[in-house]
Amino acid sequence: MEGKRLICGCNNVWLADLEKAIAEGAKDFAQVQSATHLGYSCGNCVGFAREIVEELLAKNK
Ligand code: FES
Repeated sequence: MEGKRLICGCNNVWLADLEKAIAEGAKDFAQVQSATHLGYSCGNCVGFAREIVEELLAKNK
């Protein structure tokens, strides 16, 4: 169910999409953004999305 969490409404990016980008090799926030388009529109999600991505990256180390 965790993956069902919507992270970026503008670009329809879900938690599962972030996990997939990292599993496929994204190493930092910018790489997750370019893989998913997270935060490319209004930008409102960037603050909390960055925290989530940092947590996921830390778990994957
Ligand atoms: S909610 Fe992510 S760019 Fe608007």
